[in-house]
Amino acid sequence: MTEPGRKEGFSSNFGMVAAAVGSAIGLGNLWRFPYLVGQNGGAAFIIVYLIITLVISTPILLAESVIGRRGGGAPAEAYRNVTGRKAWGAAGIMGMITCFMIMSFYVVVGGWTIKYLLLSCVMQFHRGAQIDSGALFTGFMTDSTAPIAYSILFILLTIIIIILGVQKGIEKTSKLMMPMLFVLIILIGIRSVTLPGAKVGIAYLFNPDFSSLTFKSILEALGQSFFSLSLGACMMITYGAYTPKSSNLTKNAAVISVSDTFFAVMAGCAIMPAVFAFGVNPTQGAGLVFVTLPQIFTQMPLGGVCSALFFFALFLAAVSSAVSLFEVITSSLMSITGKSRRTSAIIVALVLTATGSVCSLSQGVLRGVTIAGMNIFDQFDYLSSNFLMTTGGLLTVVCIGWCVGKEAFLDEITAGGTIRVNRTLASILFFIIKYVAPVVIVGTAISIIF
Ligand code: PHE
Repeated sequence: MTEPGRKEGFSSNFGMVAAAVGSAIGLGNLWRFPYLVGQNGGAAFIIVYLIITLVISTPILLAESVIGRRGGGAPAEAYRNVTGRKAWGAAGIMGMITCFMIMSFYVVVGGWTIKYLLLSCVMQFHRGAQIDSGALFTGFMTDSTAPIAYSILFILLTIIIIILGVQKGIEKTSKLMMPMLFVLIILIGIRSVTLPGAKVGIAYLFNPDFSSLTFKSILEALGQSFFSLSLGACMMITYGAYTPKSSNLTKNAAVISVSDTFFAVMAGCAIMPAVFAFGVNPTQGAGLVFVTLPQIFTQMPLGGVCSALFFFALFLAAVSSAVSLFEVITSSLMSITGKSRRTSAIIVALVLTATGSVCSLSQGVLRGVTIAGMNIFDQFDYLSSNFLMTTGGLLTVVCIGWCVGKEAFLDEITAGGTIRVNRTLASILFFIIKYVAPVVIVGTAISIIF
């Protein structure tokens, strides 16, 4: 049941954590993290990523959930309510735009995932299959109709969950999908690390070589940590508003961030040993999942089954993240226009179909249309993760650290004094939110610009 005074909400704390973990674990973990690890020297990158996630990202996640639960409502409302200032509503609107941009390219990759899941189910990637995975992928993604049809299918699946609502849609599906995802990734990991020759890949993941770490890798680790934890896009503000009053926000932030990081490392363990076992170059980049892996599946014992399991995992991860992106936009629209959940969701889906199609076409016929040297798809990805999400994160920490203040922060994380939170830990967290995180974010932004 939803608590009194709350229009919609999760029925339990577990439901809330499952949904937030669902948002965090996504294409970022399975698609981006492994290739970033590959390009940035393996274990050294993972160590930097872990430190950043622990010290910077987790406190920001907590700050977002404080704004959400304390403020209530859609992000713009939540910001206005916690600060008592109208202008802060703009930060919530920015979050909605950020989610919109991410969602526009996310649905395209979501569509590719469905296509690859279907290909796996008809055993296209079984051992011994003769495929040219590079040509297959390029042919598919540059086509003008098929990828759009798949991304519309992906949008339809997402919208069904959104229309079912917070408890019956988001919470129920997350509680089902998250345990499945963990089982899948562990199964694929076991297959991968038991391949002959997998040792080199494991060493690559766990033996740090700091000489290959550059300043750029540190920036990438920060960007990836933000993207992976869905920070700076008002996800935790939206879900925070649905969080039971009795929930321990600090513990939740820790659980969400540990689960997401554990999953990312598991994804690395599932992919890298296989990559090394078959002598493929780990620095391949974005094509790793759709080009390199299918090639590997066709050479690997149990490859057919593994490919189906892998693309099913990728699909579940993509849907649960897309649901959260969709929910931020839908709840914002509901609060701005006063329209019902269903109408708002349909409007969002229609506009997304248009922007998603443009992103998809920008891989093919619209490739020539570039903004600052990048096609539209890449530009949306670049702008949202490097600019909008970091600005969103900065607004969150400034809001809590400098406007809401320590007293209200402590009041919220202790649920009005009913939950015990270690005082020193609480003070450290607030210090990070108020001083460390803004300095790191602004410092990073400056170094990217110059
Ligand atoms: N965290 C998601 C991923 O790793 C992406 C995401 C970003 C989802 C922002 C919601 C909000 O793929």
